[in-house]
Amino acid sequence: MIAAAGHGLPWDLIGARLGADEGSLARVLTSGESLLVTDYAELVRPPETASVRGCAGAAVPIQWNGRVGGALSAATTAPHSEFGKEQLELLAELADLAAAALEHASERRQFDELIEAHVEALAAAMDMRDRRTARHSEDVVRLAIAVGNLLHLDAASLVELEFAARLHDVGKIRVPDAVLHKPGPLDEQEYDVIRCHSAWGAETLAGIPGLEAVAAVVRFHHERWDGAGYPDGLSGARIPLGSRIICACDAYAAMTADRPYRDAMDSDKALQEIVCGCGSQFDPAVVDALSDAVAEMD
Ligand SMILES: [Fe+2]
Ligand SMILES: [Fe+2]
Repeated sequence: MIAAAGHGLPWDLIGARLGADEGSLARVLTSGESLLVTDYAELVRPPETASVRGCAGAAVPIQWNGRVGGALSAATTAPHSEFGKEQLELLAELADLAAAALEHASERRQFDELIEAHVEALAAAMDMRDRRTARHSEDVVRLAIAVGNLLHLDAASLVELEFAARLHDVGKIRVPDAVLHKPGPLDEQEYDVIRCHSAWGAETLAGIPGLEAVAAVVRFHHERWDGAGYPDGLSGARIPLGSRIICACDAYAAMTADRPYRDAMDSDKALQEIVCGCGSQFDPAVVDALSDAVAEMD
C-alpha cells in the first residue's frame, strides 16, 4: 500500500510504500473492517510515526464497487486522549466521500480510455484505407497542437483538437476507391463526392459518446472565414475555433507534402500561400499563430 496523502505526518511518509505486514492498517485493507487502536504506531509501523506514538488512532476502509481501494486513518492530537465512536463515524463519512471521488475519477479514466480507443480504431481504419492520409493526419495534428498552444487553448480543448485533427478526413473512408485513388485530376462530380467527407466524418463521430464536440470540429474543417466554404457556408467566429485551426494547418500540411503529381512546396512558399488566404479563406489570428508555430519548428 502507498501512503497517498496526510496531515500532521512527516512529509517523507507521503508516497512511501508500506508493507502489508507493517502495522494493523493492512488488516483494514484485507478485511474491510474499521479499527480502533490505543497507539497510532500500531496502525502504521515505520519509525516515522514516532511523533504520534502513544496517541489513540483509528482506521476505516475506503471502498467502492465492493472492493477496498484504500484506508483512511487518523490519530488524536494528544497522548492518552480517547478516540471515540463519534470520531470513527466521522472518519467513515470522510472515507465515503473519498470513495465517491475515487470512483468518479476511475469511471472518468475508463471513459477517456474508451474514447481514445475509438479514436485509435477509426484512425487505424483510415490509415489502412489510405497511407497518404495517415501521414497527412499526423502532420496536421502536430501543427494544430502547436497553433492551439499559441492560442492558449485549455487542456480539454487541446485534446479535442488533437482528436479532430487526427480524424479530420475520416469521412474519406466512405469515398469510393475510383475517386479517392484516381490518378488523374478529378471532375466536378467527383469533387462533389470528396466534399462530402467532412459531413460524413462528423456523422460517424457524432454517433460515438464523448466525441460529439470532435464531430462538430470535423464537420466544419472546410468552412472558410469569408463564408464560401462547405458544408454549411459558416463564416467568421461562427466556425468552431478548432475547425479554423485545422483548416489552415490542413492546407499548409497538404502543400508541404509530396503528392504523386507534384513535388512538395517549401515551407516559406506554403506560408506565403496561407498568408494570401488570410481574412478570406483563413482566420487571421490562426494564420499569425501558424506562422509563429512554423518559425518555431524550423
Ligand atoms: Fe478534409
Ligand atoms: Fe486534410
